Amino acid sequence: MDIKTFSEAPWLYLSLSIVIAFATYLILRRQRPATAINEEMNDVKQAAAEGFSSSEEIFPPSSDFIAKARVKGMAGYQKLYRRSIDDPEGFWADEAKELTWFEPWTKVLDESKKPFFKWFVGGKTNLAYNCIDAQIAKGLGEKVAIVFEGEPTPGGVAEIRKITYRELLSEVSRFANVLKSLDLKKGDTVAIYMPMVPELAFAVLACARIGVVHSVVFGGFSAESIRDRVNDANSKAVITMDGGYRRGKFLPLKQTVDEAVKDCPSCKHVLVLQRHLGKPDAACTMQSGRDLWYHERAAQVTDVCPAVWQESNDMLFLLYTSGSTGKPKGIIHGTGGYMLQAYTTNKYVFDLRNDDLFWCTADVGWVTGHTYVVYGPLLNGASVLMYEGAPDAPDFGRFWKIIQDHKVSVFYTAPTAIRAFMKWGDEWVKKHDLSSLRLLGSVGEPINPEAWLWYHRNIGAARCPIVDTWWQTETGGHMITPIPGCTPTKPGSATLPFFGVDAAVLDENGEETDSGILAIRKPWPGITQGIYGDEKRYIEAYWSRWGGKYYFPGDGAIKDKDGYLWITGRVDDVVNVSGHRIGTAELEAVFIENEAVAESAVIGVKHDLKGQGLMAFVILKTAHAKTVNEANLAKTLNNMVDAKIGKFARPERIVFVPDLPKTRSGKIMRRLLRDISEDRELGNVSTLADPAVVEAIRQKFATPAV
Ligand code: PRX
Repeated sequence: MDIKTFSEAPWLYLSLSIVIAFATYLILRRQRPATAINEEMNDVKQAAAEGFSSSEEIFPPSSDFIAKARVKGMAGYQKLYRRSIDDPEGFWADEAKELTWFEPWTKVLDESKKPFFKWFVGGKTNLAYNCIDAQIAKGLGEKVAIVFEGEPTPGGVAEIRKITYRELLSEVSRFANVLKSLDLKKGDTVAIYMPMVPELAFAVLACARIGVVHSVVFGGFSAESIRDRVNDANSKAVITMDGGYRRGKFLPLKQTVDEAVKDCPSCKHVLVLQRHLGKPDAACTMQSGRDLWYHERAAQVTDVCPAVWQESNDMLFLLYTSGSTGKPKGIIHGTGGYMLQAYTTNKYVFDLRNDDLFWCTADVGWVTGHTYVVYGPLLNGASVLMYEGAPDAPDFGRFWKIIQDHKVSVFYTAPTAIRAFMKWGDEWVKKHDLSSLRLLGSVGEPINPEAWLWYHRNIGAARCPIVDTWWQTETGGHMITPIPGCTPTKPGSATLPFFGVDAAVLDENGEETDSGILAIRKPWPGITQGIYGDEKRYIEAYWSRWGGKYYFPGDGAIKDKDGYLWITGRVDDVVNVSGHRIGTAELEAVFIENEAVAESAVIGVKHDLKGQGLMAFVILKTAHAKTVNEANLAKTLNNMVDAKIGKFARPERIVFVPDLPKTRSGKIMRRLLRDISEDRELGNVSTLADPAVVEAIRQKFATPAV
């Protein structure tokens, strides 16, 4: 049959058109992410309207700071930045040559499997070797690598330890030999659940030394969270400690691990360190065959352990983080590219020098602790401070006393902490000598200009530059940040992209705009290698928004007239509570497990101290709605959050409502819930299936919680 025109075979043309139209629809639908673009844009626009980026004050670095800085002035920044964008491979190869490679790479960047990028293909290296042995080779063996300040124990004395690079080599090598004695080898995964003590750094570095993938689980997570992470990664062992101190209390971590690994078939061993040798916590019971005391195993091995060669793209670690849907995802980081991101950001952003004592207050359980407590400072041969306890124990001056006692020179903390310091009062700061400080940093959430200015005046004595660093677990290291000897800063702005970062602010169609969504065009060395066991989810969550051309980090941003970037916060269903990422879907999944709950919607709302808090709106099943005691049920739901995620994920309030604001197609309009919670005029309600619902929710919200 030879058909040439529509008139000859209309049925064929029609069916072809339908097939093509349907296929196009399917493709477009696939590319359209689950979260609604318009709502997100509204949020950023609202931030812009509220004067988010209106701070006009500009703080250039002092001439004194510039004189000693590694990169000087904006011209210095522009020159390096231009090269990093025009010739990224040349730029990164030159930086990478400052590190130790056992075998050179054959290709700097392989984009053939985009968005799964490979850096320094064929290059052989080892991160622990670069952090320790390479520093000793440079003559830093007797230099202090880690200064540890423990929380004051019940006896009232804080434990202080100083560990040199040579001692670190011995500790890490012995630890690695213990891991080997448990038959753990290159490519295996282990989970680490420990307090902020030097042994946590030893454990991480020991894994890196022999190619074991570490999956650190923050010490505040519950047994169920540990279980899920161990199972997802098939971790063969868990490294933990009998417990750690916080605000004078001993927190029994091993007990939580016991609870977790009951349901972890892959976990053959629990390796237990003692917080105080010879004094195990009474509650720490050992299961024969599975549980092993670290100190007993350590006595049986030597402290010499050669570093295992890693191909640059071999997996270094997994770190679980929340997304807008489903369970937390295991973010994969490789070896060489991540190493370079950690090395260069510490070198340029903190301008680290030989005589610096660097203190990043983050827990190693989060990515900030990986890159800026363990790997980055050591790659630069710096001394790093680790503190076990809380900022308010035994008193509100704890951090300032630590800075004074140890002469910390670079201090890196979160806006949540800064807002708490402001609340506790300047007198705690004034009692201490902070003159050793020369540079301050902020990370984890947008910093409000008031907090920035307080930090600048009270902690930095109007002398120290502030680097407000935007980045995320997936990026491995800083992405948008001032370079301290170069960038004039504006309070509340993360300013300009780091070297090699090609950032843009886009609208829903991928067009550049002034207020929209942050997007990154080119790959950078520290970019994640994907989500463990779920390539599809990685592509969908990060690369589908603009047809695969840009990485979508999930943040809104405003670009001002000087090209400075102001991060407005998450535009997906992730909430940043005190700098901790929590997916609203995770909480909703917890609530639905309660038999009285029919449905819920969790949103993020402004919070004076935490930046954002969680607000939960819960609908009860009809059978329970009349009989349930709301106060008791709220308690039960909170306890469920503690048990399934961790106490830090508790909502500010649980409001029981008759219904949720839904469109006719059944989508919950979270924006209206935010308007109610933040006492704003309601946005457009005309698309709601039942506009009266909003008033009912508003009334319920106005009734004080019991
Ligand atoms: O929303 C951004 C916010 O924290 C998110 C990343 O969280 P996480 O992967 O846990 O890593 C935290 C430490 C880097 C980002 O998507 N965020 C982080 N730093 C900033 C920030 N928001 C504004 N300004 C920052 N400096």
